[in-house]
Amino acid sequence: MSVTLPVALDPVRPAEPVRIMNHAAITGWGSYSPSRVLTNQDLAQLVDTNDEWIRTRTGIAERRVAGAGESTSTMGVIAARRALEQAQLAPRDVDLVLCATTTPDYLLPATACLIQQQIGCTRAGAMDINAACSGFVYGIAIASQFIQGGAARRVLLVTSETLTRFVNWQDRNTCVLFGDGAGAVVVEATPQRTGVLSVALGCRGDVERMLVIEAGGSAVPASAETVAKKAHTMRMRGNEVFKMAVRNMTATAQEALAKAGLKLDDICAVIPHQANLRILTATQEALNLPAEKMFVNVDRFGNTGAASISLALGEYLQMRPARVGDHFLLVAFGGGLTWGACVLRWADVAAIVQERAQKLSA
Ligand code: ACO
Repeated sequence: MSVTLPVALDPVRPAEPVRIMNHAAITGWGSYSPSRVLTNQDLAQLVDTNDEWIRTRTGIAERRVAGAGESTSTMGVIAARRALEQAQLAPRDVDLVLCATTTPDYLLPATACLIQQQIGCTRAGAMDINAACSGFVYGIAIASQFIQGGAARRVLLVTSETLTRFVNWQDRNTCVLFGDGAGAVVVEATPQRTGVLSVALGCRGDVERMLVIEAGGSAVPASAETVAKKAHTMRMRGNEVFKMAVRNMTATAQEALAKAGLKLDDICAVIPHQANLRILTATQEALNLPAEKMFVNVDRFGNTGAASISLALGEYLQMRPARVGDHFLLVAFGGGLTWGACVLRWADVAAIVQERAQKLSA
């Protein structure tokens, strides 16, 4: 039995009825990468490193770097507009804007609010999510819960990072790993039994400071001393992060599959957080997954934090358009420390768009 709930009054036009227990499907996707390419050879001019070391240890050949005037919100706005265009959705019909980022434009206001304003999502609430590199999976979890619970019909989930602004360019342990970029998806209510089938989330508070930007918050406020010490940039204990990433990405992927009642054989592609190639290969082997099912683009973008899964998903869909009923497994690990995975069943997007157009024009 379906129940019709009232929604908040819309000053422009009558509120749409919201049904509880909707399914939540991706109906639009878009991404943006800055044009400036930083190669391993470029990095060898800055720190004591070389192309061979970076390729063998990380699989990264180059990454993108935001230009002057670009920031997390400006990149997020471009990706979001592309996702809305793909979904044929007007900004005023978005109910909630989420931005997953570790590198917000400001501590206040939230980057999601800046994006909401720039795009003109005039009826939407907006908030940021900080789950570091797991931000896309956490964002999908939140978006799908809003939709399944009936509080929203359309959520714009933006993931955007300007990690190169928080990198110590004298620290070869970290500066070779990260890049900038943005991706966005529209997550939308549908009666089709598709979309987000399961979500698994995990966390172990990083009290050991394995991956940290120490200064600039309330614990260590910004001062001349923190700037001099470069305490506003990322520090990482790479070896420990590596082991935890492989263990938890494997376990959380298995949990999400079990919750969805599916096996790896049912999955057409795994789209993982692009941390580094060795983490991805070790996870793929631990899962016993055929290598060709693990999508990898870390070689060209480096680790783009919360944006990496949406960037990878966008690139995958451009190369191999999804068919209705295809299953995808998304899996991530990142600072926090956080991890998570979700299983998606690809929806009949054209039918959702058509049904929505009829409803909104009625
Ligand atoms: N170029 C050349 N040498 C380097 C560089 C570099 N860029 N960086 C470190 N080294 C040196 C070290 O100084 C060390 O030298 P030493 O033996 O003389 O002391 C040597 O290389 C080996 O260092 P390790 O840290 O043991 O190298 P490792 O094989 O572990 O690789 C790496 C380092 C790539 C960071 C690895 O630990 C890793 O991938 N960790 C995962 C971290 C990660 O991806 N974090 C991203 C955020 S979290 C996430 O997204 C999952």
